[in-house]
Parts: sequence; C-alpha cells; structure tokens
Amino acid sequence: MADQIRYHEINYVPTKLVMPSRLIDSSSKAWVGLEQVLADIISFSGIKTNTALEFGVEFGYSTAALANYFTHVTGVDIFTGDHHAGYHGDIYEETRTRLSQFTNIDLIKMDYRDFILKEERRYDLIHVDIIHTFEDTYHCGLWSVEHSGCTIFHDTESFPDVKAAVAAVARRTGKKFYNYKKCNGLGIVL
Ligand SMILES: C[S@@+](CC[C@H](N)C(=O)[O-])C[C@H]1O[C@@H](n2cnc3c(N)ncnc32)[C@H](O)[C@@H]1O
Repeated sequence: MADQIRYHEINYVPTKLVMPSRLIDSSSKAWVGLEQVLADIISFSGIKTNTALEFGVEFGYSTAALANYFTHVTGVDIFTGDHHAGYHGDIYEETRTRLSQFTNIDLIKMDYRDFILKEERRYDLIHVDIIHTFEDTYHCGLWSVEHSGCTIFHDTESFPDVKAAVAAVARRTGKKFYNYKKCNGLGIVL
C-alpha cells in the first residue's frame, strides 16, 4: 500500500526543544526525544491545552509526556500489545501503577474501533500510536483528524505504511502533513 501513495510532506523543524519536568521510565525508548518537541508543536499549531486523547498507551511514556501540557489526558489501549509493539500479556494494571502520580490521566482499556464508535467529543490534540498497519492508522487517523485541532502520529519514518496513511488522511481532509523525521518520525496533521 505504502508505495502507491505520493507524499506531500513538509519537513518539521522545531524552533525549541523543551524537556517536560515529569516523566516516567521508558521501557521501549521508541518515543524518547519526542517529549521535547511537544511544547513546540503546541505553539506551532495554536491549539488549546485542555484535552488530549491518545490511542496506543502501552507502558505510558508518551501519555506521561502529554500530561505535562494538557489539563486532561485520556489514553485508550487494548493493553495486550500487537504484532508490531510485541505481546506483553495484560499490562493495564502495570501501566496504571506507572502513571499513578498523574491525576490528570484516565486510562480506558478498549479497542480504538469500539471507542470511536461511541465518542463524539472533540479534543485539542490526539496522538495515534497503535498497530502500524495502513488500514488501522488510516481508520483511526481519519477519525482523529476530524475530532481534534491537531493530530500527531508516531513512527512515520520507521513504518512506511504509517507515513502513507498519514499522507492519505491529510489529503482526504485537506490538511497539511508536517513530518518530524527524528525519533522514528512524528507526523503532524494540521
Ligand atoms: C507502539 S505501542 C504505544 C507506545 C506508546 N505510545 C509510547 O510511546 O509510550 C502500541 C500500542 O497500541 C496498542 N494497540 C494496538 N492495536 C490497538 C487497537 N486496535 N486499539 C487500541 N490499542 C491498540 C497496543 O496494545 C500497544 O500497547
């Protein structure tokens, strides 16, 4: 699927890097570095910082990073892993404990497909970091772009299908696709 898509991406160069003050240990390291770009994305996109929604929490590193900036963060995950992230058994309780210092995070153990069937609220920012197939990234990403001021997608550089899906969502919604190439790639659709 990926090679059928012609990308129209704009290289994203942050003007500042800011380390959030409260983080947790990262077991996978995949998101490490991106926590320093969040403040720049918030100013660049001009969004409010009341609500963030994350699809794909795993051990909670990116969720904790978001919780430094947003008044309330909702994290949705099946908490059993997937083909790309690996299968860890049920890590819901472990992740809840890891994030217990953040009173502004709510975790929901649910498949994103069930969540988006019922959810009607809009969020200031949505982070998509689920299984990295074209179909799932496109399906979840399209809903997310339609329900947020700014949607960010992890792994645009390490998974060609993710990048293709982000480009397709941006084209379908008439938005711009900025791409930060470091840290496995972070797509920003605005
Ligand atoms: C790459 S990990 C997320 C990493 C996390 N964002 C971080 O950087 O700290 C992907 C997560 O997506 C979850 N996931 C996969 N498919 C899902 C689905 N259909 N609905 C909800 N979560 C899903 C997996 O359980 C896994 O925990």
